[in-house]
Amino acid sequence: MTKIKRHKTTFLKTFFKERKQVGALAPSSKFLVNKMCDKIDFENAKAILELGPGTGVFSKEILARASADTKIIIVELNEEFFKLLQKNLKDPRVILVRDSADNIDLILRENNIKHVDAILSSLPLAVIPEKIKKRIIIKSHAILRTGGSFVQYQYSLNAKKMIEKKFGKIKLGFVTINIPPAFIYHATKA
Ligand SMILES: C[S@@+](CC[C@H](N)C(=O)[O-])C[C@H]1O[C@@H](n2cnc3c(N)ncnc32)[C@H](O)[C@@H]1O
Repeated sequence: MTKIKRHKTTFLKTFFKERKQVGALAPSSKFLVNKMCDKIDFENAKAILELGPGTGVFSKEILARASADTKIIIVELNEEFFKLLQKNLKDPRVILVRDSADNIDLILRENNIKHVDAILSSLPLAVIPEKIKKRIIIKSHAILRTGGSFVQYQYSLNAKKMIEKKFGKIKLGFVTINIPPAFIYHATKA
């Protein structure tokens, strides 16, 4: 079995174990990954935060595009995904943490990072409890530097209002070549 097939199988198995946590049946498509990564200014980023990496499809692209001195903080809650990422993301730029995204302020403090230049999130906001989701959005806004990008995909517009409440008007994109098709929310910190 190829690595990609193995990752798809791990993803599906993990979905059936932890439906609410994973929130999707398959890893994101290359189209979605590229469209989201295109929103990030990799050249000038000193620190990038990824939330909910799963099997690491975005992590790989972030590593390919980021500069040699960019810190890449990756936060995954699920143990199985975390172990897989530990094996596959052996790069000195990566700070891989097993924790919930609502602890991002503490995670940054522990790693002596004050602000990040961009946040790329695949968190399944539609199924994350309201209180936790609110904390994640408030903290994401707080740790992002002014002018930095918060990029999130979702299969619906459910989280748009909550994100706009904190960030102001967001730009919306839509990617059809993904299972299922996905909205991209792009917010900038004013
Ligand atoms: C829809 S999957 C996205 C996986 C991958 N980034 C992709 O696009 O293929 C959501 C991911 O968020 C993780 N997750 C869910 N709740 C989380 C939380 N509170 N903190 C960190 N990760 C979380 C899940 O374990 C899963 O890896």
